[in-house]
Amino acid sequence: MSKVDVVIGCFYGDEGKGKVIDYLAEHADIAVRATGGDNAGHTIEAGGVKYAMRLTPSGILSGHTIAVLGNGMVLNPQVLLEEIANLKAHGFDVDHHLKISEKVQIIFPYHRMLDRALEKARGGSKIGTTGKGIGPAYCDKYERSGIRMEDLYEANFKEKLQHAVESKKALLKFYDPEDTTIDEALDFEKIYAEYSSYAEQLKPYMCDTVTYLHKALEEDKNVIVEGAQATLLDIDFGSYPYVTSSNPTVGGMVTGSGLSAGDIGNVYGVIKAYSSRVGEGPYVTELLDETGDKIRELGHEYGTVTHRPRRCGWLDLVTLKYAKRLNGLTALCVNHLDTIGKFDKIKVCVAYDCNGTVTEDFTTNLTVLNSAKPVYKEFDGNFGDISGCTTYEELPENAKAYIRFIEEYIGVPVKFIGTGAGRDAMIVR
Ligand code: GDP
Ligand code: IMO
Ligand code: MG
Repeated sequence: MSKVDVVIGCFYGDEGKGKVIDYLAEHADIAVRATGGDNAGHTIEAGGVKYAMRLTPSGILSGHTIAVLGNGMVLNPQVLLEEIANLKAHGFDVDHHLKISEKVQIIFPYHRMLDRALEKARGGSKIGTTGKGIGPAYCDKYERSGIRMEDLYEANFKEKLQHAVESKKALLKFYDPEDTTIDEALDFEKIYAEYSSYAEQLKPYMCDTVTYLHKALEEDKNVIVEGAQATLLDIDFGSYPYVTSSNPTVGGMVTGSGLSAGDIGNVYGVIKAYSSRVGEGPYVTELLDETGDKIRELGHEYGTVTHRPRRCGWLDLVTLKYAKRLNGLTALCVNHLDTIGKFDKIKVCVAYDCNGTVTEDFTTNLTVLNSAKPVYKEFDGNFGDISGCTTYEELPENAKAYIRFIEEYIGVPVKFIGTGAGRDAMIVR
């Protein structure tokens, strides 16, 4: 039986997971996504085209890899249909390369409206969600009133949906009694017609993905899992409540796909050579000065999904060690070495100073995190033009020293190094 390689974001998302999956997909039969929804945006630049994959695993871009949307996801059918249309327009045979778990939770317009209403109600302590209805959809899942893909084809779907629409209308009016647009925006007959049409269009892709994946492993097929979001956005292990509503850590890859813990082989942790975060929440190495602005401009750090400017800062190895422990990382991918190499001096956070107590152990306690001061080690930058570089030997000595330090501190080898946004701009060791 073959083992499954998993790709996981180590920080706050947008580390370049899609790019690693795109590389691994060359030899993968199946690529699975297990958590999240269209809050994700995975960018792959291939053949002169820039793809921003929101729901479909990026592995599909290999042309031969079957993309599986696992049971742990929350699915906005409209976004998926747009993605399918775009992939087809670029020549991909989606009809033979896409499978959707029958257990996937469906996102409805009221989820998105609730997401926005809840953010508004939070006032000054908003989370900064993507507004895609992710949290409310997972709430319904765990409250056991969610509508799953297979439910769309049941005789009682209309009744279930009507009940959901009515109860969410009441909830939305509770949050904003002044909002006069709710009834019109949640016109039940309109939503029912719309979702019945989505159901018809997506029916050919519905699959018992758990059996499908296990049979594939029994046939020695090569399966990879594309993590979305990231470790510090994990509902249990992230900086709660400034997190997403799923478990993007390794456990979520298991429960969100139906694969077993014993099926997991390599766990690749993805980081950038610096760090970034979108949305609110603590961020110890954030740079609110011109260095942070420079990272943002050089790294083109603007959200794939919401186009928000990303908060930027130096690499945080305290956080990375935490991600290693939680996920059992077997190797690392360090992206954007080309970007960080443009700085004369590069800092890396090696400890937190928490009111005089210096520690290398991460905590998600907000009071501690909000007062923690980064302890930095400085490295020489100026790596020269390493954009597009594909061999480790080509890198200058100071770039190698930077990579070696990360490996030694974390105790995990760096297997992939990103040297540009393009598909081929990667060193594989
Ligand atoms: P994901 O959500 O983890 O897949 O990451 P995103 O696609 O949201 O963000 C990563 C961004 O960095 C994208 O714009 C990528 O094209 C870009 N990128 C990834 N790796 C590299 C790299 O090594 N160098 C440069 N310059 N850009 C990269
Ligand atoms: P990928 O897969 C970066 C963040 C949001 C917000 C918090 C909660 O591209 O790395 P949500 O809409 O999920 O309820 O928002 O999580 N967030 C991401 N940030 N990359 C992502 O995905 C993200 N998915 C969610 O910005 O702070
Ligand atoms: Mg992203």
